[in-house]
Amino acid sequence: MSSSTTPFLRRYGTLMACLGFFFALKAGAVEQASTASAPAQCARVSVNTCGIAKALGRGINMGGMLEAPEEGAWGTRLDPAYVDVVAGRFNSVRIPVRWSNHADPDAAAAIDSFFLARVTAVVDAFLSKGMYVIIDVHHYQQLFGEKLQGKEFAVDDAVVEARFVNIWRQLGRHFKNRSDKLIFELLNEPAGRLNANAWNTLAPKALAAVRESNPERVVMIGPVDWGHPRALPSLRVPEDRNVIVTFHTYDPFNFTHQGVDYLPMKLPPGVTCCDEKQRAQIAGPIQMAHAWSAKAGYPVYLGEFGVMKVADIASRATYAKAVRGEAERLGISWAYWDFANAFGVYYPKTRDWIEPMRAALSD
Ligand code: BGC
Repeated sequence: MSSSTTPFLRRYGTLMACLGFFFALKAGAVEQASTASAPAQCARVSVNTCGIAKALGRGINMGGMLEAPEEGAWGTRLDPAYVDVVAGRFNSVRIPVRWSNHADPDAAAAIDSFFLARVTAVVDAFLSKGMYVIIDVHHYQQLFGEKLQGKEFAVDDAVVEARFVNIWRQLGRHFKNRSDKLIFELLNEPAGRLNANAWNTLAPKALAAVRESNPERVVMIGPVDWGHPRALPSLRVPEDRNVIVTFHTYDPFNFTHQGVDYLPMKLPPGVTCCDEKQRAQIAGPIQMAHAWSAKAGYPVYLGEFGVMKVADIASRATYAKAVRGEAERLGISWAYWDFANAFGVYYPKTRDWIEPMRAALSD
């Protein structure tokens, strides 16, 4: 599990005072320009990209593995056996990757060839099962102005953004011949000093670096504020016909993040789910993203939601069903966070599904 020391206030922005505790809301033509029949949420993207947004369907995040400072540092490695475990049940898989700690410290940021081969093998294994695969840049702490984690190395501040763009230039070239089932997500949960203006300036540069070698591959971009839908209006989506906008929601936060050890203030365990108020907190952000999507003309994707294993299992399953149900009702594809880590649905040691979670997400 992440041991991020990200300040609570900076990480989750809006605070609610409640019984003396402050709970944070993290939330949260080739083709024709717009064909007459395209749904409003696809008005600005290609027919293929609109189809992919739907086809992503049910997904799972292989979290806590390749985005740890080093694979295994957070207790789980991406065991090749997981590919078959996941493949039959989910349409898509999101693979968070901490490239920044596996690339040269200078602006060119040459990616370590051993690590690149490792990630490539994982990507190809999932692609060979016919799944959609999303890879991102995850936990580039210095880009956010956050503390480094584990044995992470610091780089000169002057090259932080250039490294980000050059990492994408390399990934673009490296994966350019993969099928359109491989999707690039520019950055997980932009936050910290990467405010809306900074992100709206940086994202198009990374996208342009990808486009040099991948003119039509689907690229995902999410808003600041850790990807919460409330920040969607601040996102300036680059003019591009193959973009899907991703968002995250962990509302109600005091339920999903109970017992998490990387928040400055530990949220107490024992919170159950889901009463009427909690159901409204679950549905609100998803409906917000859906409404934004229809207005903006870009399809949206729920790339992360999830609940700590600390919560009781009946509540976890009820929550997972509620989020999934609302997303599916609105035609939004989703990915649960995470497979086998602190928010997991699978026990890596016994190689068993946590049955109520398996059922909630894949039946
Ligand atoms: C972070 C993880 C964290 C999860 C839930 C993810 O985006 O990368 O470290 O466990 O959100 O907070």
